[in-house]
Amino acid sequence: MPSPKRHLVTAALPYGNGPIHIGHLAGVYLPADIYARFLRLRGEDVIYICGQDEHGVAVTMKAREEGKSPREIVDFYYEQSKRSFADFGISFDIYHRTSAPLHHRTAQEFFLTLYAKGVLEEKETEQFYDPEARQFLADRYIEGTCPHCGYEHAYGDQCEKCGSSLSPDELINPRSRLSRATPVKKKTRHFYLPLNQYEGWLRRWILEEHAHDWKPNVLGQCKSWLDAGLRPRAITRDLDWGVPVPLPGYEGKVLYVWFDAPIGYISATKAWAEAQGDPERWKTYWQDEGTALVHFLGKDNIVFHAIIFPVMLKAHGDYVLPANVPANEYMNLEGGKVSTSRNHAVWLHEYLREFPGKQDVLRYVLTALMPETKDSEFTWKAYQQRNNEELVSVLGNFVNRVLVLIHRFFDGRLPEARLLEIDQQVLAVGREAFARVEQSLRRFRFREALHQMMAVAREGNKYLTEQEPWKLIKTDRERAAAVLHTSAQLTAYLTALAAPFLPFTAERLRQWLHLDMLRWDPDVLTLTAGQPIDKGAHLFEKIGDEVVTRQREKLAQAAAPAPQTPPVKPIITFDDFSKIDLRTGIIRSAEKMKGAKKLLKLTVDIGGEVRQVVAGIAEHYAPEELPGRRVVLVANLAPRKLRGVESQGMLLMADDPQSGRLVFIGPLEAVPPGAAVR
Ligand code: MF3
Ligand code: ZN
Repeated sequence: MPSPKRHLVTAALPYGNGPIHIGHLAGVYLPADIYARFLRLRGEDVIYICGQDEHGVAVTMKAREEGKSPREIVDFYYEQSKRSFADFGISFDIYHRTSAPLHHRTAQEFFLTLYAKGVLEEKETEQFYDPEARQFLADRYIEGTCPHCGYEHAYGDQCEKCGSSLSPDELINPRSRLSRATPVKKKTRHFYLPLNQYEGWLRRWILEEHAHDWKPNVLGQCKSWLDAGLRPRAITRDLDWGVPVPLPGYEGKVLYVWFDAPIGYISATKAWAEAQGDPERWKTYWQDEGTALVHFLGKDNIVFHAIIFPVMLKAHGDYVLPANVPANEYMNLEGGKVSTSRNHAVWLHEYLREFPGKQDVLRYVLTALMPETKDSEFTWKAYQQRNNEELVSVLGNFVNRVLVLIHRFFDGRLPEARLLEIDQQVLAVGREAFARVEQSLRRFRFREALHQMMAVAREGNKYLTEQEPWKLIKTDRERAAAVLHTSAQLTAYLTALAAPFLPFTAERLRQWLHLDMLRWDPDVLTLTAGQPIDKGAHLFEKIGDEVVTRQREKLAQAAAPAPQTPPVKPIITFDDFSKIDLRTGIIRSAEKMKGAKKLLKLTVDIGGEVRQVVAGIAEHYAPEELPGRRVVLVANLAPRKLRGVESQGMLLMADDPQSGRLVFIGPLEAVPPGAAVR
């Protein structure tokens, strides 16, 4: 592929219903920022685009919970997030928002183009309607029992307990979350994007053309979506918060949030171009083939950016397609998932307040632990260790020794030097790192790139320790000069190498070294003998155990009031209860089910017979730990098929509200299988 003329880097627009946390940063905003900063240093034409995703049920739900208007909610988080990102050094060229009139216009025009081209299908369907609240119910507004795990507060789009994605039709016993009324079906008309017509093209484009440059986790998800077959997808909704459908007869309908949000990248680019005083300039980025469009996002967003948005762009016809979609997996926190609702998170705005001046420490640790290929975990202990053992002991120590020694021995002026082979060698390590780090960054391997950058600092430390300029100064002043000159030059290289990752640190170093500017090019970073070198200060400081303890306690406190046990169900009669036939059993075998991440296929011995049971416990138990376990089985539940496999019974399990774990309920004492439980 010829190298692109310009780069359009986007980061998934965060929902305007809550603050930014470390999971967002490690997954999306930080890798995109490192990438954009690197390209800028490289002198390439790049803009880094983001904004807030302000429509959709995520926002209206939050507004309802807080008794506020959606507008108040998005305004609050817009200000907060914009500021936190800026303070954290996330270098967006623009942070726009989808409630802006410019975005509404852009999304409506996009829709109208697809409509005029005859791309969209219009269909009448029946949808859930709340007869009391008199409105159609978004999937999220419907609650009921999960058909997979029996959780009673599953939503119409997803069960938060077992993670299955659902459609409201699958919920057992659906209720409206607005009024608690039982929803009824009512006819409504909507527009659909016929994804199915693009399957062949998507297969070629993704699985063939991008087979080698997209990340395996992204290709894998795309392949399973494509293999499962695509269906037309509704792109309008019956809601009053969103971008209105711009056609007569469609009053009260809005564009589906996942239709308008990615168009937010386009409208944000327009807003950026306007701010540049060159309103037409957005077109070069979006419509000229020389653009490399790169979307950064988390794994739950892959289908939207790799399949749906590309289909929209392709169908529209005027736009470039993404060159890459480097999605990350999730970052967990101290043994659990990051959770907004349980307040199990490290919030960016709080971190900035509690750790002033320590943006780069968090940037460093999040990059080192970035969930690039699989889920990763942030702990405060790791934060402390990476800071103390790497930033302080390696990078900070090297730089500090160099600057202080130049001050002590050479009055803060870079000494003249006649370099020996060994000096040239260490400088070569620094020079070569540019190509190496670049290669990793271009392949979206941020952890590797960070490591390669730090390897230069390690090399510098080793060199200083071996050469001992503090001793040489007494015996061979000329050698001491050469060693410190070399070390200062290596520091200049490090400054640029570190800049994408640690921009605040790099800026301090740049000033201390009196470099006019940083570029991704060792030749531009050459220091001259006689130039001033500042004494600087410690770049990083040790973090004590009390910080770790305090942060852990804070998390524990935040989580404490959480355990929410579900309300007790309505009274039933003894006769109702005695209809249920419960039996003791023993699990004989357990195996994973192909294509079903949550499900295990078990056989359960209940005395006279062995039942096949499909249970939604794969995320809680490994198959090998199950055989021999004593359980209680609902033995007369009508069999049903889960992913094509018949389940002949259900195991009793307790839901631990604290940890979210599922725990087996079984006899405490040995009872033969098949005994009645009553
Ligand atoms: N708001 C979505 C989320 O947080 C991401 C939207 S990305 C965009 O999951 F493509 F729609 F912009
Ligand atoms: Zn479930």
